[in-house]
Amino acid sequence: TFVVTEPCFGCKYTDCIVVCPAECFHEGEQMLYIDPDDCLDCDACRPECPVDAIFYEDDVPPQWAEYIELNAEMVAKCPSITERKTPLADGGDN
Ligand code: F3S
Repeated sequence: TFVVTEPCFGCKYTDCIVVCPAECFHEGEQMLYIDPDDCLDCDACRPECPVDAIFYEDDVPPQWAEYIELNAEMVAKCPSITERKTPLADGGDN
């Protein structure tokens, strides 16, 4: 499964969502999470993220290893998101 990590926090560019064929993204207040039960391991989302927040689970940098468990936990608490929206990072004046 693929995992969303720290660079997404406060960004939520949502470029990842539109390429996902499995609708496996869930939206938290500050970042997105991938449902490991829905992820197809297709690798479509990873190159789309402008801040490189998405990694294959085996490739998550050690300092962000906790995000593997966090994604699995948070998808149960956060609603599914399937459409692009204005990123937090570009909020404000735009
Ligand atoms: Fe987050 Fe990157 Fe998607 S910033 S919302 S993982 S495109």
